[in-house]
Amino acid sequence: MLADRVRYKPLQDKINDPATAAEHIQDGTNLFISGFTAGYPKLIPRELVRRSENGEDFKINLFAGASTGDMVDGKLARADLVAWRRPYMSDKFMREKINLGKIAFKDDHLSQLSAKVRAGQWGQCDVAVVEAAAITEQGHLIPTMSVGNTPTYVQKANKIIIEISANSPKLEGIHDIFIPEDPPYRMPIPIYRTVDRIGKPFIAMDPDRVVAILFSTEQDHCPIFTPPNAAASRIAEYILDFVHHEIKKDRMPSSLPWQAGVGDVANAVLSGFLKDNNFHSIDIYSEVLQDSVLDLIDLGKVRAASGSALTLSEKARERFLNDIDRYRDKVVLRPVEISNAPEVIRRLGVIAINTAIEVDIYGQVNSTHVMGTQLMNGIGGSGDFLRNGAVSMIVTPSTAKGGLISAIVPMVSHVDHSEHSVDVVVTEYGLVDTRPLTPRQVAEQIIKKCAHPDFRDQLWDYYQRAVRERGGHEPHILEKVFFMHQRFLESGDMRVKAFPS
Ligand code: COA
Repeated sequence: MLADRVRYKPLQDKINDPATAAEHIQDGTNLFISGFTAGYPKLIPRELVRRSENGEDFKINLFAGASTGDMVDGKLARADLVAWRRPYMSDKFMREKINLGKIAFKDDHLSQLSAKVRAGQWGQCDVAVVEAAAITEQGHLIPTMSVGNTPTYVQKANKIIIEISANSPKLEGIHDIFIPEDPPYRMPIPIYRTVDRIGKPFIAMDPDRVVAILFSTEQDHCPIFTPPNAAASRIAEYILDFVHHEIKKDRMPSSLPWQAGVGDVANAVLSGFLKDNNFHSIDIYSEVLQDSVLDLIDLGKVRAASGSALTLSEKARERFLNDIDRYRDKVVLRPVEISNAPEVIRRLGVIAINTAIEVDIYGQVNSTHVMGTQLMNGIGGSGDFLRNGAVSMIVTPSTAKGGLISAIVPMVSHVDHSEHSVDVVVTEYGLVDTRPLTPRQVAEQIIKKCAHPDFRDQLWDYYQRAVRERGGHEPHILEKVFFMHQRFLESGDMRVKAFPS
């Protein structure tokens, strides 16, 4: 194992134990970790928690690729060890502390993070802790199931700690690592097809900065997506029918790549391909690749799948690793600044599908803050894809919290994406293609086709009164625009009999 995984001999005497390695992390350390839903370090976070349980008083600033597992975000948040956390996270304990103001958090478009770190905007990169499958003969890193921002973190770190994962053999050749030059020297990113490889199969590393190497038998615990429910399946059907219709009408080429964001609805869209006979040779240019991508590859339906992470259930992961030589031809994992690069998304003409918390009648989108104040997860890559996709779709079940909250509202309580980034809005009740419509027509269609029947009348009532009483290009009654949110905050139910006068 040792000679096979740490093939650069001078580093073999850096193999150490977690307690000794973690001594490099002290109060105030800026800790940059690998991990993008998968591929996060496990031993060092556990060791930090152990130190805190033994009475040591310290806090770190934690920077990852995106969300990690409970082993990192959950445990560190519960132990009160995090002063700052960036970027996207999806852990409920961390979310709670962020919303209480106990953990500082700032959101960024994922495509922009690495460049910001290289520019020093996040402060000094004191220590990088990185999960790896191996260290090559030349002292470079083979990542595991995600790439995220790791190439930049490794490039900038003063000290590097590596956790070699016993569970991730044979991953070499899956990754394509390319760090673009920063402005003003940036050149085009030369990806012209989903399948293109433009970099190296390893992360370049200065071995002299490695302070410790650990061996880990811990596994990723990825969120498991349940089979799509009725609403998610219905949304997926609307989307596949719509795209098929656009292709038939010659308004869209048949070979555009697909991106599906996080969440059950986005996953249902890819699962929808399994049953659909209209799509045969699919390209996926996305951020996170899930089980459904492997299923589609096995059915011979995928030409190429590009992402920054493979977030697989335990079973799918086993299948992937057992048959990696076959999957390697189809799957490429890139840094998130490449998987989400606006330039590439535009060039390829990606069909982008992302989930909202709420959408308003004119098509503005809130992806991040419940009732305008409480952070859910973060913007992730939704802005990268929505703003730059050839066709950008925003999807959401029409209601939340058992039907008490409408996902269609007069005005969103927080804005992540504007109407100018959104082409299509879909709920389980219908799909509206906003592209040929005026804002007033968009409002009418979204209320009629996307809103849940329990909320249609009150939304229609509001809109009609806004047209009558205020008019304008996008009619609104500003002092009443949040009457549904207000109603929910007061009574726990957004439904009203009639729009309040
Ligand atoms: N009001 C209040 N709560 C709402 C809500 C609304 N309008 N809409 C959703 N929620 C709540 C749900 O009730 C659920 O809460 P729970 O965890 O307490 O049950 C939670 O938000 C998640 O919603 P869910 O319906 O389970 O959807 P999801 O898992 O598909 O997540 C987002 C939806 C929007 C939170 C998620 O897609 C996200 O974080 N998006 C932003 C980042 C992104 O799009 N990344 C992809 C780029 S590649």
